[in-house]
Amino acid sequence: MFICICNAIRDKHVESALADGASSVCDAFRKMGCAPVCGKCVPEMRELVQGRAASVTQCQS
Ligand code: FES
Repeated sequence: MFICICNAIRDKHVESALADGASSVCDAFRKMGCAPVCGKCVPEMRELVQGRAASVTQCQS
């Protein structure tokens, strides 16, 4: 599924960036070698980042 149409980013690309240590939306874009264009994908990207952070926190507690 495409998350970011402007940069042709799929959910699996975001998951890869998160697994590679991205801890924010900006970080994820940086790791994928691109930047937001229109910004419509940012809320969904943020949900993925926050979901990842929540699952890591749950594992640590
Ligand atoms: S959809 Fe991601 S920047 Fe436009």
